[in-house]
Amino acid sequence: MSRKPDKPKPSQHKRWEGKEKPDWLSRALARAGVFPQKEAEDAIRAGRVTINGRVALMALAPVPPGAVVKVDGHPVTLGAPATRVLAFHKPAGVLSSTARQHRTGTVFEVLLPQLPPELAGYSWHAVGRLDVDSTGLLLFTNDDKLVAHATSPDTRLPKTYVATVFSTADDEKVEPLRKGMTLDDGLARPAKVVVRDEHTVEVTITEGRNHQVKRMLGAVGLPVRALHREAVGDIKLDIPEGSFRLLSDEEVREGLRYEGRAPTED
Ligand code: URA
Repeated sequence: MSRKPDKPKPSQHKRWEGKEKPDWLSRALARAGVFPQKEAEDAIRAGRVTINGRVALMALAPVPPGAVVKVDGHPVTLGAPATRVLAFHKPAGVLSSTARQHRTGTVFEVLLPQLPPELAGYSWHAVGRLDVDSTGLLLFTNDDKLVAHATSPDTRLPKTYVATVFSTADDEKVEPLRKGMTLDDGLARPAKVVVRDEHTVEVTITEGRNHQVKRMLGAVGLPVRALHREAVGDIKLDIPEGSFRLLSDEEVREGLRYEGRAPTED
C-alpha cells in the first residue's frame, strides 16, 4: 500500500512566503532612500524616529508590515524603492569594492559625496568590479537583483573594454580570443575582438571573471598596460572621469535588459 506523503510541517518561514520579511529599522530607512544606513542609525539613536507612534531607539527594531514610521514627526514611505542605476566614470587608483561603502580608497569615496540629496540616501551597490588600475564605466544600483542580473554569465550582457597593450597586436595574435580560449579557471567564451591599432585592442566579453581581459590578452603575448571599460550592455561611457549620471528607466530596460522594480510600499 502506498503511503500518503507527509503534510509539510509548519515552519517559521511559512508566514513570510511570497512576502518580503520585515526589515530592521535602519536598513528599511536606507533601502527606501530616506537616509544612508549610518545616518539612519544616528537618527534612531537621537530619538528622531518613531514606529507606530513610539520612539524607536534601536537600529535593529523590526518594522512590521504596514507600520507608520515617522522621522522628526514626518511620515516616510518604506518598502523597496524603484530601481535606480548610476553610471560612474571610474578613475585609476581607486578600489571598486562591492559593498563596503565606508572604506577609504574606494570608488564610494569619489562617488558618494557628489550625490544630490534625492540619491544620497540609498544603499548603493557596485555592479561588478574593475581592477584598481582599470578605468571607465562602472555602474551602481540600489537594486541587488540588478547586480545579480548584470553580473551573471547566464545573462550574457556584453562588456566592452579597450586595452592598451605592450607588444604589437594583430588579427592573428588575437584569434584565440575570438575562438574561445582556456584560462586557468576554465574556458572563456569567444570574445568579439577588434584590433584598433597595433597597441590598442577592443575586447567585448559576455562574462566577467577576475582580471579576465588582462589574462586573455596576456595569454596571447599581449600584456596589458592600461584597461578602460567603454560600455556595459548598450550603456556607453559618456561622462568625464570621476563623474556620474543617473540612467533613465528606458536605459535600464533597453540598455541593461532589466525590467526594474517599481516602488513598493509595506
Ligand atoms: N578584466 C580585467 O582584466 N580587468 C578589469 O578591470 C576588468 C576586466
